Amino acid sequence: MSSKKRVCIVGSGNWGSAIAKIVGNNVMEKSDKFEKEVKMWVFEEMVNGRKLTEIINQDHENVKYLPGFKLPENVVAIPDVKDSAEGADILIFVLPHQFVRGVCKQLKGKVNDGATAVSLIKGFDVAEGGGILLISSVIRDQLGVPCAALMGANIANEVAMENYCEATIGCKDMKYGPLLKELFQTNYFRIVVIEDETTVEVCGALKNIVAVGAGFADGLGYGDNTKAAVIRLGLMEMVKFCEVFYPESQQGTFLESCGVADLVTTCYGGRNRRVAEAFVKTGKSIEELEKEMLNGQKLQGPPTAFEVNYMLKNKNMEERFPLFTAIHKICKKETDVKQFMDCLKNHPEHM
Ligand SMILES: NC(=O)c1ccc[n+]([C@@H]2O[C@H](COP(=O)([O-])OP(=O)(O)OC[C@H]3O[C@@H](n4cnc5c(N)ncnc54)[C@H](O)[C@@H]3O)[C@@H](O)[C@H]2O)c1
Repeated sequence: MSSKKRVCIVGSGNWGSAIAKIVGNNVMEKSDKFEKEVKMWVFEEMVNGRKLTEIINQDHENVKYLPGFKLPENVVAIPDVKDSAEGADILIFVLPHQFVRGVCKQLKGKVNDGATAVSLIKGFDVAEGGGILLISSVIRDQLGVPCAALMGANIANEVAMENYCEATIGCKDMKYGPLLKELFQTNYFRIVVIEDETTVEVCGALKNIVAVGAGFADGLGYGDNTKAAVIRLGLMEMVKFCEVFYPESQQGTFLESCGVADLVTTCYGGRNRRVAEAFVKTGKSIEELEKEMLNGQKLQGPPTAFEVNYMLKNKNMEERFPLFTAIHKICKKETDVKQFMDCLKNHPEHM
């Protein structure tokens, strides 16, 4: 039997497609370690009268989610998630977090013994009984496979342009670290592997909430000093969140790409910031703006703010995380965005 690893990508949005470009090229270059064909699950939809899978397989471009970039020809789009994962040794999960449970349900019992997974997904799962779960733990529990996390300051289009950037792989079981690094690292996409998987993933989820706050500050017409304050207070709440809920978390992880770097890039360049700015300027709802502005891409910040609030409220801890709480309430229009500045001025950091 071949010892070469078969790779499957579960998801094909903006980031999924940028990652497919990297992984598709890497497996070709390292064909002694990986099978050359990479199956990519594509949520089927019609684009300009053609199936998206057909477009990707014939034209080698995801014209809807990553237009303007060619995908390697060994990346094959598959519309059935079970078919895409069949026989895979490494499963790369990269889809909006709200769809993870549904996808895992379909994959349950269909995944290879001995397979491993890595999640590139930012967000939480809401748990029964008032808590939240990491997405990697949902994948692990549903499919019975280990699951690492890859996060970093990685706006998909810039990665697709091959601009230099960094990413962090959090891998509790370090035996998978070297193989995952080989699969993802290129000369422009540099990877650091660390053991603190939980903090890597929590940072990736929480920074999208802070990005919404940065967008509010921009929309209200404040400048860079205010945005830097939002970023700093957001970081303080991220650190505290890990201290309270994930006490094994290590502070050094915040200095990796998954921490401060991802927080900064997303508060300047990301879609959550952009939509939050428009939310202030237009008065439209987040849901309307997501439809109008993102052409099928999904926002992660507002749902993550909801998930975090769901837990904080249940634990009577909303006041300990005033920035996260205010951002959630503003997104839901329970609080007027003009009160955002009061939240910053009265933050416990200043009392
Ligand atoms: N885009 C980025 O720059 C970036 C960078 C790093 C991490 N991420 C993270 O990667 C994850 C995936 O984001 P993305 O940018 O690849 O996706 P996206 O938001 O660009 O695309 C949405 C995807 O969801 C799919 N979809 C729509 N309805 C669906 C359904 N009912 N069931 C299943 N899938 C459905 C669409 O086909 C599409 O592939 C997210 O957690 C995101 O936070 C994104």
